[in-house]
Amino acid sequence: MLRDRARIEVADLEQPLDLVPAGSVDVVVASLVLHYIEDWMPLLAELRRCLVPGGLLVFSVHHPITGWELSDKTDYHRVELVSEQWDWDGQPVTGRMYRRPLSAIFGALRQAGFWIDVVDEPRPQAGVRDADPRITKILATMPVFLYVRAGPTR
Ligand SMILES: C[S@@+](CC[C@H](N)C(=O)[O-])C[C@H]1O[C@@H](n2cnc3c(N)ncnc32)[C@H](O)[C@@H]1O
Repeated sequence: MLRDRARIEVADLEQPLDLVPAGSVDVVVASLVLHYIEDWMPLLAELRRCLVPGGLLVFSVHHPITGWELSDKTDYHRVELVSEQWDWDGQPVTGRMYRRPLSAIFGALRQAGFWIDVVDEPRPQAGVRDADPRITKILATMPVFLYVRAGPTR
């Protein structure tokens, strides 16, 4: 339970944000969220503003190769909306997300004033139990997610 140790806010990340004072956040974590945002620049500028010197932005997105496979492959270099069909307990769901080339991901970070600390393509850790073997095999052998850790430049 977080009780009064956390302040919970709900915000649309595509709208202008001004949630916290400048230089007041140690770590921003965005797990599988940024690929739903078309224009990263206003959001990255806001996250950069909020971070303390030496702070970190840690995020995961769908791997660009996955997005490319979902696209009509007309132009790798553009940012584009792609969609994917998911099966949620027998219920068909269409997910829509923005695919962007690697240069757009890291170019936007640089332009917003971040340096890149870690880039990872995570795979399941050995010994993880109770995982669906089919999903585990996909995650172990295919490019599914991209993890990035970045920090504000001075
Ligand atoms: C795939 S879920 C990830 C949820 C969770 N972070 C995780 O890793 O399990 C994508 C999340 O992005 C959020 N999201 C998508 N577009 C958003 C937007 N414009 N503003 C704020 N959140 C958004 C959705 O509400 C959803 O919670």
